[in-house]
Amino acid sequence: MFTEVKVADSLLKQKEKISEQASISELSEIWVSFEEGTSNHKKAIKQMNKCHEKGSLFVCRRTPSINKYYELGQLLGSPGQYGICKEAVCIDPNSKNYKKKFAVKAINKRKYNDKRLTYNFFKELRTETHLLAAAHDHPNIITYHSVFEDVGHLYIVMDHCGGGELFDRISRDQKFSERTAANVFRQMVSALYYIHSLGIAHCDLKPENFIFETDDDDSRILLIDFGMAKIVQWRQYHKTINGTPYYIAPEVLSGKYNEACDMWSMGVILFVMVFGFPPFHCSDGKLSQPQQDKSIFKKIQSGFIPKVQGGYGAWFPKSVPVSKGCKDLISRLLRTKVADRLTSEEALEHPFLALDNKELDSNAINKSLTASILNSLRGFGKLQSQQPKLQAQILGVLKKCNYLNNSQTKAVADFFKAADKDGDGHISEEELFDALKESDPDVTMEDVKSIMHAVDADNDGFMDFDELLSSRIARKLQSSEDRLRKVFKLLDFDGGGTISSKELKGALDSIELDEEVSDDKCDKLIQECDKDGDGEIDFEEFISLFKKL
Ligand SMILES: Nc1ncnc2c1ncn2[C@@H]1O[C@H](COP(=O)(O)OP(=O)(O)O)[C@@H](O)[C@H]1O
Ligand SMILES: [Mg+2]
Repeated sequence: MFTEVKVADSLLKQKEKISEQASISELSEIWVSFEEGTSNHKKAIKQMNKCHEKGSLFVCRRTPSINKYYELGQLLGSPGQYGICKEAVCIDPNSKNYKKKFAVKAINKRKYNDKRLTYNFFKELRTETHLLAAAHDHPNIITYHSVFEDVGHLYIVMDHCGGGELFDRISRDQKFSERTAANVFRQMVSALYYIHSLGIAHCDLKPENFIFETDDDDSRILLIDFGMAKIVQWRQYHKTINGTPYYIAPEVLSGKYNEACDMWSMGVILFVMVFGFPPFHCSDGKLSQPQQDKSIFKKIQSGFIPKVQGGYGAWFPKSVPVSKGCKDLISRLLRTKVADRLTSEEALEHPFLALDNKELDSNAINKSLTASILNSLRGFGKLQSQQPKLQAQILGVLKKCNYLNNSQTKAVADFFKAADKDGDGHISEEELFDALKESDPDVTMEDVKSIMHAVDADNDGFMDFDELLSSRIARKLQSSEDRLRKVFKLLDFDGGGTISSKELKGALDSIELDEEVSDDKCDKLIQECDKDGDGEIDFEEFISLFKKL
């Protein structure tokens, strides 16, 4: 398994999903404080208590002057929309960081004269700092140190990274070698897997917002700039359009999106990394900027053609040879339909990102997949223990329809084979323990027992292949509402927006089952989940069968 996945998973174990804007006290912890009891401290408390009100002069509250602690130096990167990034050196002799170099993002708070715009802008700044603070402990996300605020500016003090933007490396080398691209891209996806698992969408992914820690060839890459980041909640969508034309996802343009928009942007970035130009662009220099943007948006909405063709556009160019694996990953990220697009977790499993990517080296690929199987098992445990039998039947239908793709099915099969040490076709508790221990040294026998209890549908004390497959399918379904909607449509034969007992029976009849399911049994299965008692399952009820907990 990749170290990145391991790190992310172990960090995630100790963390809750972000579901709400930061409370004042959470923000206050990020802001530098005046000494308690001083008049400045008392004033700051007052400011803080009023910071959510319209007309407040403070995003949170005033802090001691940044100039007391840091000497600001030369500009880093190019000035953005709201401010600039500068080098800074710690000049506080009492600090353990004395003389150490940092980066400071100075944001001009007074960009708008309008009170309402300022109010919304301050809200965005609170979100930016809150989300950065929530996510910054991942090795591929920039570490922030503190926040300073005065009447004119907000200052975010971060680790200094001297390796430059991903954008600069791409333009310098024209394009990356595929090996380098894979090594860098894996880290980038790992950062996304982490923030998405926490319930954060970045919404402004582009090569300028990834920077290298150092100039070394094997330097880490870090995600920065949470200025557009949003809290995403299961089944809730954002509507405002922002982001940079080249990288923006089609559903963002239509005004209904969630964290999947980040994965589209990642597809565009990977394309640029290996081909050296963006797939959606406008080369007509005579057009004004807004006209060019419009032309790009139109191309994005027409979608990506996953084929090799001559010329340069939204397809793979004939002139640049790139491996099959890389093209496959790009085409799975640049899918217009969100349900078909890879999630960050699935992208991490993609063979192109396997540590030892020889396109045929299945061993290396499968090592990375153990993590997702472990996650499936854990998630399934939570689901199964509270859910009725209907879910198991639906998973059964999907199993027969080969709902997982080849590499996902193979991964489950390989995991099963490796875990089933004595080869008797079942995984015992001891075997499961040994298998899980390889990817998670902290796993306990208690974990194993609870997983086994949940997955073992026929209660024979062992896990069989079908049971393992079900847990993996459930995980895939759970990872996106659009996928659930697709499956719902599949079962809703007459398109009436509900699943009746008859439709369920039809679906079960269409596949080969070990034992036939009677009409009565179908009625019962539906009844169990039919909360509003109308005899049918609507989408809300269907969703609640699989809802992420
Ligand atoms: N920690 C850092 N170390 C070095 N350079 C940085 C750092 N943070 C940002 N930069 C540079 O400053 C630029 C702007 O910072 P960013 O946070 O993306 O602000 P904006 O919201 O204006 O895009 C980045 O693209 C990068 O070049
Ligand atoms: Mg930026």
